[in-house]
Amino acid sequence: MGTYVVTGGAMRPGRLGIGGALKQQLLDAGHSVIAVDRSDAEIVADLSEPAERLRAVEELSTRAPEGIDGMATCAAVGGAAVTPQMLAEVNFFGTIDLINGARPLLKKKAGSVVVVSSHTFVLWQKDDIVDLFMSLDREQILAGIETSSPRAVYASGKRALVQWMRSQVAAYAADGVRLNTVVPGFTDTPLTSREGASADEQRLMDQFQSSIPLGQRMGQPEEVASAIEFLLSPKASFVCGSVLYVDGGHDVNLRPGPVEY
Ligand code: NAI
Repeated sequence: MGTYVVTGGAMRPGRLGIGGALKQQLLDAGHSVIAVDRSDAEIVADLSEPAERLRAVEELSTRAPEGIDGMATCAAVGGAAVTPQMLAEVNFFGTIDLINGARPLLKKKAGSVVVVSSHTFVLWQKDDIVDLFMSLDREQILAGIETSSPRAVYASGKRALVQWMRSQVAAYAADGVRLNTVVPGFTDTPLTSREGASADEQRLMDQFQSSIPLGQRMGQPEEVASAIEFLLSPKASFVCGSVLYVDGGHDVNLRPGPVEY
């Protein structure tokens, strides 16, 4: 049985997020799981802070000195009230700093990584913000996005994660480590709760949902978690650098015609 790391893998009472559902599935399969989250996790860390990201990686090395079989980066924040800075710190640097930090542990076990992106990148990404993220220069990124809309920063950061993953595939593969991305569609988690949403926001969510080909329904966190679990597992031993949409076919409606990824 393996040892897996799930950022955003808190298991709180009530509805689970994608990371929580993944942790549950991995535990059910008999694996050990180290969740990294703000609370309710083996490693409690605030991934919006560079020093906390470093500490989380150090703690991983202490908890799994023999290495890890895989890591899925599910931690993220979203919504109009979240600052661009927070979106960049948690969603982008909270992903790449954890993966880069865990690289020696992943190498020890020829492990696998799943980067979690978002299907909304196709709607709201801005090329200049994506390019800024791809500079990987934290100071420059934080200064450059200060006045951008949270929606554009969220989407562009999620798109940049796909690009970053692809840019790293060969280097990680040289260490025997597979990188892949899952792009979840509209999924029923605490992040997309309709609680507290205005009538306008609820109407928009309903419209969004009704354009999902497969049943005009939201995905369940377990459905996304199953795809991540597959990519982490040895069953996906030759799957590397792929971008897997788990969205009920939504991307086909959002982007008809040929697409890059
Ligand atoms: P969620 O809100 O249920 O889970 C996110 C987790 O990240 C939470 O456990 C939260 O505590 C943790 N987190 C947030 N800020 C943190 C911080 N500063 N430090 C440590 N942990 C922190 O969200 P959900 O829906 O499960 O999202 C999982 C992933 O899927 C995210 O990357 C999200 O962007 C992505 N996604 C979700 C979609 C959806 O419709 N739910 C659609 C597309 C992508």
